[in-house]
Amino acid sequence: MKIALGSDHGGYQLKETIKAFLDELGMEYKDFGTDCEESVDYPDFALKVAEAVAGGQYDRGILICGTGIGIGIAANKVLGIRAALCHDVFSAKASREHNDANILSLGQRVIGPGLALEIVKAWLSTGFAGGRHQRRVDKIKAIEEKYSK
Ligand code: RB5
Repeated sequence: MKIALGSDHGGYQLKETIKAFLDELGMEYKDFGTDCEESVDYPDFALKVAEAVAGGQYDRGILICGTGIGIGIAANKVLGIRAALCHDVFSAKASREHNDANILSLGQRVIGPGLALEIVKAWLSTGFAGGRHQRRVDKIKAIEEKYSK
């Protein structure tokens, strides 16, 4: 599984922590920036990661800003992206099983690194359940289609 990572300055430290964790797991990833704690605009990094995932070059994305809110909202503007803001393990698993989320959004200023890594682990290892959930995800895609014109 290839993972695209991105953050603004408010999520930079947690992105570094997640990279070290992915290295431990031997998982393949690309860091789309930012590369320091200098102030930047989160939509720029949301767009890079969302396009890499929507375009199929990467299987999943992880985006981090201060709250996880702005970067997730921006990513969800890209067609085909289902970014889920999750600050607990239950929601992280459900976002995969029920919503087939392809981007995980996290807030570095909201949760600590220990919980964040538990969330990442659960989110990366949980599959989509399909069935009735597929029908609902298809309806999300139909909404996207309607407003993409
Ligand atoms: C940056 O200060 C902050 O607004 C950003 O990281 C994020 O929390 C936005 O949603």
